[in-house]
Amino acid sequence: MARTDTGRATFRAAPNIALVKYWGVRTPELGLPFNSSLSVTLGRMHTETTVRFAPELAADSLRLNGASTRGPMLTDVSRFLDRVRGLARLSTRAEVRTANNFPTASGLASSASGFAALAGAATRAAGLHLSARALSRLARLGSGSASRSIYGGFVEWRAGHREDGRDCFARPLYPASHWPAFRDLVVIIASAPVKKVRSADAMQSSVRTSPYFQARQREIPRRIVSMRRAIGRRDACTLFPLIMEECDSFRKVCETTSPSLDYLTEDSRRAIDEVRSLNEEVGRPIAAYTHDAGAHLHIFTLAADAGMVRRRLAHLRGVQETLLLRPGPPAEERRTR
Ligand code: PMV
Repeated sequence: MARTDTGRATFRAAPNIALVKYWGVRTPELGLPFNSSLSVTLGRMHTETTVRFAPELAADSLRLNGASTRGPMLTDVSRFLDRVRGLARLSTRAEVRTANNFPTASGLASSASGFAALAGAATRAAGLHLSARALSRLARLGSGSASRSIYGGFVEWRAGHREDGRDCFARPLYPASHWPAFRDLVVIIASAPVKKVRSADAMQSSVRTSPYFQARQREIPRRIVSMRRAIGRRDACTLFPLIMEECDSFRKVCETTSPSLDYLTEDSRRAIDEVRSLNEEVGRPIAAYTHDAGAHLHIFTLAADAGMVRRRLAHLRGVQETLLLRPGPPAEERRTR
């Protein structure tokens, strides 16, 4: 018989930005990606989520940044809680309170930190003690990139080969402390349009229609090996060109998807050009750009160059704000307030 216990727990998780992108799912029911991906978890930004299972609740509810939230977001959360209830043999409904310490609608990925924090809080509240690897597998079912936000620092999400997905999980490569000088300058583009197609649908449209999708699949393993090695040696001169090559390859898949997925604005493109010019002027790669399925940019650089890179980008037309971040910590349980 299903249990109806009461339990409450709080978890905190940070967003991550992919250096090698996840884009395309081979088994949608299990959220298994075509390719492995690599990311850095971000410092300073986080989602904090409290889950309370209680027998008196008639339905799941969600408060996001203090406001009661329904619609597709509550549906996604409730579906995710069903998985946790299934694991814990629990039938109780839950109250979910979640807050981001960064603007939710800004286009900065909040689904990664959101589902990583929800996976941690919901399983603990349900009385489960999952390993980080098991949490990563579970978080993946909410949002693919959430599998990586379970860990801090540099993280690889292995696509695996098995049909049941048991070999598909993220693993920590290097903790945040490995490369103290590594910086991510987040460039917020003022006119960023609101996403019209959910990433989960957009990427499947790329799988079906982009003539470049398969070629990109063949490039990725080599790129991941080279990036892992460069991160291990803290070798920015090798890593930064690889990050830009990967971003350009991801963008090419998006642009050759039918209908075309064009996430950048004129202002984002100007910022990318500025990074290219800066590297040419200096004569070595001191910065690298990347972006997700949105108009904002992440510019990687090192502490010694961060001030100069920031000045160059902050003054461009259409740049609303820049945030200078470091690699961040893993997801962790917090005391519930
Ligand atoms: O985790 P999702 O389903 O929101 O998809 C994320 C896709 C990208 O952000 C574009 C790439 C990635 O690996 O994070």
